[in-house]
Amino acid sequence: MELSINARTKIIGIIGDPIEHSKSPILHNYISASKNINAVYVPFRVHTDNLLDAVRGLRGLNVVGFNVTVPHKNKVMEYLDCISEEARLIGAVNTVKNIDGKLWGYNTDGDGFLRSFKEETGHSFKGERVVIIGAGGAARAVAVKVALEGASEVVILNRSVDKAKELSDYINNNISCCSSFAGMEHSDVKNAVMNCRIVINTTSVGMYPEIDKSPIESYSLLNDKHIVYDIIYNPVKTELLKAAGEKGSIAVNGMGMLFYQGIYAYEKWMDIEFLENEIEQFYMRFKE
Ligand code: ATR
Repeated sequence: MELSINARTKIIGIIGDPIEHSKSPILHNYISASKNINAVYVPFRVHTDNLLDAVRGLRGLNVVGFNVTVPHKNKVMEYLDCISEEARLIGAVNTVKNIDGKLWGYNTDGDGFLRSFKEETGHSFKGERVVIIGAGGAARAVAVKVALEGASEVVILNRSVDKAKELSDYINNNISCCSSFAGMEHSDVKNAVMNCRIVINTTSVGMYPEIDKSPIESYSLLNDKHIVYDIIYNPVKTELLKAAGEKGSIAVNGMGMLFYQGIYAYEKWMDIEFLENEIEQFYMRFKE
């Protein structure tokens, strides 16, 4: 489909640094073209020192909205007018919508993760004990969502135990869900994994180019009762997911999370709701 920009073209985009690797422009521009929506999605590489100027510029240009990615998801909150409850709990904004000149911040990562998890595993978090590996920004989005979804316990495992404690305390204090924490010693990992059904990796361990690494050393801890979700999507099968598959666990990568956070952002910007068959078509294209 031909792109024709005119006076009514809606501008959306993404700010981050680096930004060259982002798959979002392909997804959003494809959606606009196939839905015949007059919009363009532009990637902007924005250095941290220029974040305020960038947000002011986007506000001044009256864009429809934009995505925010690493390293600005937290800092950008200071420059917005309103923040959704969930984005505030997660402590990060990945989607901004311009509503009558006011910039509203949302976080669609948690919803994207949840939809992907439910669809691809056929399970929910209700009443489940869940191990989350990592305690950074991605871990917080996942942990908040899992806790809000009614998990019975969220166990945070992290190389730096103080950060695991911090996130665990945060869940205990802000969401009515029980959380505990531990380091990544073999005994910690064994105890957590053997007592939980769901294991989620939120660290970058195993991501391209270090594809031979894994956040868990002993795969013998996994069995056919486990559900292992790795938010990494490059490679599509991390060492962790390969091992999980071999042990009979359900093994899912983060491609769906990436996809659905984008779908939810687009729906917000344009005030529309896609049909299931449209979403399937977008997903096929996205995975190519
Ligand atoms: P993100 O926003 O993607 O979550 P982040 O906030 O920098 O990124 O968090 C990265 C997470 O991956 C952290 O939990 C980090 O562990 P530390 O808190 O100990 O740094 C984890 N991580 C990154 N590289 C790691 C490695 N080589 N081994 C173990 N954990 C690692």
